[in-house]
Amino acid sequence: MAEHDPTKPRPGTSRRDFLRGSGLAAATAVLTAPAVAALDEAKAAAVEDGPKVLSGELPITLQVNGHEMSCKVEPRSTLLDTLRHRLDVTGPKRVCDRGSCGACTVIVDGDTVYSCTTLAVSCQGHEIRTLESFDTGATGVPHAFHQHDALMCGYCTPGFVTACKAMLEKNPNPTIEEAKRGLDGNICRCGTYVGVLEAAMAAAKAMKKEA
Ligand code: FES
Ligand code: FES
Repeated sequence: MAEHDPTKPRPGTSRRDFLRGSGLAAATAVLTAPAVAALDEAKAAAVEDGPKVLSGELPITLQVNGHEMSCKVEPRSTLLDTLRHRLDVTGPKRVCDRGSCGACTVIVDGDTVYSCTTLAVSCQGHEIRTLESFDTGATGVPHAFHQHDALMCGYCTPGFVTACKAMLEKNPNPTIEEAKRGLDGNICRCGTYVGVLEAAMAAAKAMKKEA
């Protein structure tokens, strides 16, 4: 009987079975020689240096709204949890807690970040700003939101105000399209987008007058 060529489907084997079989064979091949050697090397290194495991609570100091704030957190603690539950900075809100709504937005070194998906320990040595530090006077972003009815339930509002502030610091004279792009990491379930954009443009105008 002629030997079967393994690269060809067996008679009676479906194309799906053939592809599944070839994929498995390829994966096995990849995992054999180089991968096993790398794994052995990594295991040897781990035994030599000892595994680096961070556990328990660590003391950290964060620069928040111009103040040094210290607390202890587990290494896995998010910036949002740390701000709200350890440092009593409750402006950033937890809504989705998975980096998709923007309610927890804070400014780190001038850029907006979702604090619910940022580790607190990684923010040491960086400048963190939340809306507690913003100007609430007539030329501030919060005032513009109030004047332009840019909120309903208000859950998204701290995130929008923060994103708007960061956007205007980078681009004090945005077009509507630029403002939309600058705020596109934030979601409002109540649909206040028209008011939010009006507020953003009004805040830009007010800040320009003040300057
Ligand atoms: S709570 Fe962080 S993105 Fe929604
Ligand atoms: S005002 Fe309710 S989610 Fe935006």
